[in-house]
Order: sequence, then C-alpha cells, then structure tokens
Amino acid sequence: MRPDGRPSGPERPEQARVFFALWPDEGVRAGLHRAALDGAKRFGGRATARESLHLTLAFIGDVPPDDLPRLHEAAAGVEGEPFRLTLDRLGFWGHNRILWAGSGDAVAGLTRLAHSLAERLQDAGYASGIKTGRPFVPHITLVRNVSDRHPELPALTPMDWACDEFVLVRSRLSSRGAAYETIGHWPLRST
Ligand code: 2AM
Repeated sequence: MRPDGRPSGPERPEQARVFFALWPDEGVRAGLHRAALDGAKRFGGRATARESLHLTLAFIGDVPPDDLPRLHEAAAGVEGEPFRLTLDRLGFWGHNRILWAGSGDAVAGLTRLAHSLAERLQDAGYASGIKTGRPFVPHITLVRNVSDRHPELPALTPMDWACDEFVLVRSRLSSRGAAYETIGHWPLRST
C-alpha cells in the first residue's frame, strides 16, 4: 500500500480476459487435435494445444474481476437446447493466417444459442461479436501463423459433436500462448 492509501503496483487494476465457448468432448478433441497437427505439418504455423481447442460463442475481452458475477447472471438467462454439430470442413483466413475447422451447414441450435447469449450480454451491458457488426462465424482455430499463403485444404473427416453445455472461460496470456480456465458452465436443456 502507498502512503496515500492507494494500492501500489501496476497502474491498471487486474483484469480478467474472458469469453463464452463450447468445449469439445474427448472424442471430438482427439479428432481436432489430429487435424491441427496435420495442418501445422502441411502448412507451417503453431497448432493449438489439444486442451485449448474450443469454439467461441461470444468474446468479451478484459473485464474487472468484479464483473464476473454479472456475466454468470447473464449466462444463466440464456435459452438454448442441446444440438448436434458436424465438423466437416477446414477453412483458412488469410488476414490473420488462421486454419480452422467448422461446419459446412448452418446449425440452427448453435445460431440460436449464440444469439440468445448475445442478447443477454447486450442486456447486461456487454457488446459481443454478433451485435458489434462482426458476423458470428462458428470456428475452431486449429493452427495460428500459418506460413503457406494459399494452402490447399484437405478434406476433414467429419466429427459429430453433441453439444449440451456452454462455458465461460478465462484466458491468461503468456509467452507460451494462452492458458484457459473454465470458470462457469451452463447446461443446454430440452424444453
Ligand atoms: P480466434 O481463435 O479466431 O482467434 C480466445 O481468444 C478466443 O476468443 C479465440 O477463440 C478467439 O478467436 C476469440 N477472439 C479473440 N479476440 C476476439 C475478438 N476481438 N472478437 C471475437 N472473437 C475473438
């Protein structure tokens, strides 16, 4: 503590970098991990660590830790039913050099979930991808910093993912990349 009573240390109070996501089960994770290793081998770049593979529903960014209960409350108000997601295609974005996995078909349950979450977040005072103009493109980042500028993407062996919960994740960045910690999860229930 400083003599004037204010806390010492960094100017900026501690922030939590958080996002909502779907986290794959072990079977899907194994398939995605294989695809990530294969992608990095073919095209160069850094494969996402096996335990970090996920699909972001809404990225929040840095918030004061005191905000976390408000995010939990918003998530509790989300309406979503379980759905199945078939991951059956690879994609590549040149602007950020990301190789990703996704679904060739729009999945209504996933779109509804992301919209419901975006609405609850909006109500709670948080912008999220959908409402801020960046379209929601469901994807799982497999490889970052892809070296090949025009990768010829192989087929992805389809993976069937039964999604029955979504999670709130805290990200801690370090020189070794991001480490993720799940700090909340909410089931998707059939009505
Ligand atoms: P990415 O994998 O396409 O980079 C944690 O960083 C997660 O949030 C990642 O899935 C990342 O997507 C996503 N993310 C990071 N910054 C974002 C932003 N500004 N808008 C939307 N999603 C973001």
